[in-house]
Amino acid sequence: MIHFDRENNVFHFFNEHISYVVYIDGFNRLETLYFGERLKDDRDVLQARTTANENLYLDKKMNLLTPYPGDFSPHSRLEYSDHGEMDKRDSPIVIRNENGSTYTAFEYVRHKIYHGIKPLPDLPSLDAPWKRDEPFYNRDHVDTAEFVFRDVTANLYLHEFISIYRDKDVIVKSFQVENKGKKVQLLRAFSLQLDLPTSDYYFHHFSGEQNRERKEHIEKISHSVLEIGSNYGRSSHQENPFCFLSEHENSYTDGEVIGFNLVYSGNWKMRLSPEPDRSLHIVYGISDEDFTWVLGKNESFYTPEAVLVYSHNGIDGMSQTFHRLIRENLMTAPHTESRPLLFNSWEGAYFYFTTDSLLEYADHAKELGVDLFVLDDGWFGKRDSDTSSLGDWTVNQEKIDLHRLIDHVHQLGMRFGLWFEPEMVSPNSELFRAHPEYVLGMGENKDWSSLTRSQLWLDFSSPVVIEAIHKQIHAILSEYSIDYVKWDNNRAMGEHFSNFYPAEKQGEITHRLTLGYFHLLGQLREEFPGVFFEGCASGGGRFDLGTLYFCPQIWCSDDTIGSMRATIQYDTSLGYPLSAISSHVSAALDDSYRTKVDVALFGTYGYEMNPTKLQDADKEELKRGSEIYRTYHHNVIQEGVLYHLADNDLYSSMISVSQDQSQAMALCFCKRTRPYSYQFTWKLRGLDPKKRYLCHLDHKTYSGEYLMKAGYHFCNDSYGEPLFQRGKTLLMILTESNY
Ligand code: GLA
Repeated sequence: MIHFDRENNVFHFFNEHISYVVYIDGFNRLETLYFGERLKDDRDVLQARTTANENLYLDKKMNLLTPYPGDFSPHSRLEYSDHGEMDKRDSPIVIRNENGSTYTAFEYVRHKIYHGIKPLPDLPSLDAPWKRDEPFYNRDHVDTAEFVFRDVTANLYLHEFISIYRDKDVIVKSFQVENKGKKVQLLRAFSLQLDLPTSDYYFHHFSGEQNRERKEHIEKISHSVLEIGSNYGRSSHQENPFCFLSEHENSYTDGEVIGFNLVYSGNWKMRLSPEPDRSLHIVYGISDEDFTWVLGKNESFYTPEAVLVYSHNGIDGMSQTFHRLIRENLMTAPHTESRPLLFNSWEGAYFYFTTDSLLEYADHAKELGVDLFVLDDGWFGKRDSDTSSLGDWTVNQEKIDLHRLIDHVHQLGMRFGLWFEPEMVSPNSELFRAHPEYVLGMGENKDWSSLTRSQLWLDFSSPVVIEAIHKQIHAILSEYSIDYVKWDNNRAMGEHFSNFYPAEKQGEITHRLTLGYFHLLGQLREEFPGVFFEGCASGGGRFDLGTLYFCPQIWCSDDTIGSMRATIQYDTSLGYPLSAISSHVSAALDDSYRTKVDVALFGTYGYEMNPTKLQDADKEELKRGSEIYRTYHHNVIQEGVLYHLADNDLYSSMISVSQDQSQAMALCFCKRTRPYSYQFTWKLRGLDPKKRYLCHLDHKTYSGEYLMKAGYHFCNDSYGEPLFQRGKTLLMILTESNY
């Protein structure tokens, strides 16, 4: 809901739990007065703001105390800081006028309040279908205020959209820059500015590399600027756009937490600047490195949506809100029916398969209880290694009889999926030989140098290039009966000169690449509504809200060792629902199949190994996994509520509880070399205190209250195999019991 107090020019965005208050001050700027727990009575926020300012005077018109006009007040917390004037904090939008000036002075001119959230052109947007038939997809549960500011120096308008969800503690922000005057150049176009009254927070961010994605790092904000982001052409392994601020260092249950994410998949940046007065100034959005955008007369630029989640119940309050938002308001592909138990050929066969070997794989996969059989890399062009054929999306008929394989898979009652890497080309390919100008390069001599994994980025900023790939994928999806596509992206972007754009537009290429990715994904989704798309980028290099909009699940990491995966999935799940985290049991040697099954169950679940080489005992373990998956996964993992219990040097542990609290699965992964104690008390959360549960570990019943207050007590048998030891998991399944 949004309440507008006309007399005082105050806008109060609120729902049951949170309030966000902004106000138009005496300079016609939009100030941020408050972001936090719900204020029932908002009268004092305005008073507190005005008395906190120096240089106060009485603004007769508004009958309010505001700073002298022309005097910059460092205490003002703004929705937008102008660039080039006395406010030296980062402006979220920087524009170069035709005369070279980068000074802007935007002043409020009008606003509009409406139900619904505005879908952004060419960008994935919350609550909006890709095919934007209707202006607002869902008006019921979200309200928006659109503020319009006019630049006093040029004929430029800045629109800020602020939305609040009624049923979730979520604020969504974005900008539109509208040019009604002469041509200008956007030098920066972030999605939000957020000024918080204090910088007394811990900043949690998720950095890493391939095989070690999204490791949580916690920094106490002190006096230095913190900056995170990606210029890899994708959201990246190196930093994830999901991050958060917390009042307490690491409490899942207590204190204020503010979460951030961006509905985007390309280069991005966040900069947090603690100010001398200890306030915190944050800007966040598309990275401004190598970014410029030419905005002609009557053109607009829309920034992606930035999502803010507020919790005063610690980290899990924020996590659970993100999970619900992603599932209920972001994912547009059908995703609520049970996810398929998936078999992927990659880690078993790599490039080395024949039709017969895959038929045999399929038979074994069926025996393990698989629903969807996926043929990964190696089926197209002349691709027998990673040195050729990307860009040639025609079936390698000499290598594989794809119709025969698909028919066989379908006859076994499984669905069939295929791997693509649409944005890439191998220099050794028909496509590259015919069209070297299709690749991103260094310019002029079209010389490309930074070859990684023997492949180059196609220039997806160009509709011509996109169509060349679209035509081929469309032909495959039309000719073959394909139910699923894994969309990969296996190298980071290097040089990004485009042969299709003039010099002045080269700064647009990195954003245009991301728009091209969205465009082709959206187009194929529309043309093949029955096909389920999964995202991937050398493991989890593009795990973000832009991708999740189209692909309800994303391959989380190429690291499938249980012990590594337990951490990667735990940290990823702080911002993303388990149903988004694609996880398979592989043949990775380091851990037992039991450990790998238990860990993979806390994700979408699937298998990825040579199934003909499995030992009988291992097969039994996998069948156990399939059985648990079949019985509990949909209600408990896919649609359940996740609670993080601990992640310390001894163990990491979480529990997912079905919505009706009748079933739960808790996982504990032990990190310590020896049992640190022969005793271990496992305190659970999220259960119904009044219900009794059958614990499948010992076949005894316990009340929810007992398991949450006293905890489940283990006592390792010191003569036998300890229950709780390094690299091992404990999986506790709880089901409601009448006894
Ligand atoms: C990436 C993916 C893997 C697999 C290979 C195929 O590394 O993360 O799952 O698809 O590409 O080349």
